[in-house]
Amino acid sequence: MKKLTKVQADFVTLMSHELRTPLTPMQAQLEMVMGGFYGSLNAKQKRSLRMILRNTVRLNHLIKEIIDLARMDAGNMSYTCVSGDVAKVARQAASLLRPQARQKGLYLRVRAGALPECAFDHERMHQVFLNLLGNALKYTDRGGIEIALERASNVPQGKSIPGMGDDILVRVSDTGIGIAPEHHALIFEPFKQLDAGAHRVHEGSGLGLAIAKGIVQAHGGRIWVESTGPVAADNGVRIISSVDMAPAASTLQATGTTFLFTIPLQSTRRRG
Ligand SMILES: Nc1ncnc2c1ncn2[C@@H]1O[C@H](COP(=O)(O)OP(=O)(O)OP(=O)(O)O)[C@@H](O)[C@H]1O
Ligand SMILES: [Mg+2]
Repeated sequence: MKKLTKVQADFVTLMSHELRTPLTPMQAQLEMVMGGFYGSLNAKQKRSLRMILRNTVRLNHLIKEIIDLARMDAGNMSYTCVSGDVAKVARQAASLLRPQARQKGLYLRVRAGALPECAFDHERMHQVFLNLLGNALKYTDRGGIEIALERASNVPQGKSIPGMGDDILVRVSDTGIGIAPEHHALIFEPFKQLDAGAHRVHEGSGLGLAIAKGIVQAHGGRIWVESTGPVAADNGVRIISSVDMAPAASTLQATGTTFLFTIPLQSTRRRG
């Protein structure tokens, strides 16, 4: 994305706040009506209000993401780094999304080795986990999701990643549809979605990974993805496109996706 000037970014932030302000009381009123506070509702009214509320929540989420991205772009995002346990933050994010995983019949587990404490912004790191887990949940229909955390210096020889220092290495793996290698760089760009065509079945704006990347990089870490993409029944690798996604999905085998990111133990934090 083209860099925003400070004035442009401030304008986006201001406008986004203005857009968000009326949404909060709207959401509160909707919840009260739906909760029967103003009288009982019939089934059709409830269904209609549920749809309005779901879209209000979506709009609120989108505006929040745009504010974050504009702040990052202008170098205005503030980070409050406090020493703590990253695994604890991962577990908290997993607990929050476990009901959704259960609803889809998926497992959602966290595996952590012995980790030293390190300095990081707990709220922002929670956001990274939520973004990655939210994606994993969207694109996985069978199997499940695992977060694994380890100290990079403990990763066995041969499995270690070149160029990695004394970092905490986090993997968020799912058994979902996978991402073809030629899309690995693209998905970290704002507004990029692989199933953005008319067949799109998943909600979202394509901002979650761009934000996760900004947060990880601001901590001095790296984020990347490993996946072979969906594989056809004859084992030839198939490329996802918006046309392939919906009708041909049943002929593709899910290979899963792993997002990896690092958090340096030595603070090399940048502003952003
Ligand atoms: N775990 C995953 N498995 C398969 N595809 C994924 C996965 N995570 C991300 N993607 C692909 O990368 C795209 C970008 O992800 P990103 O999180 O940035 O946006 P989004 O989830 O579509 O919207 P938002 O996060 O803003 O609500 C997704 O639309 C999807 O096509
Ligand atoms: Mg997302």
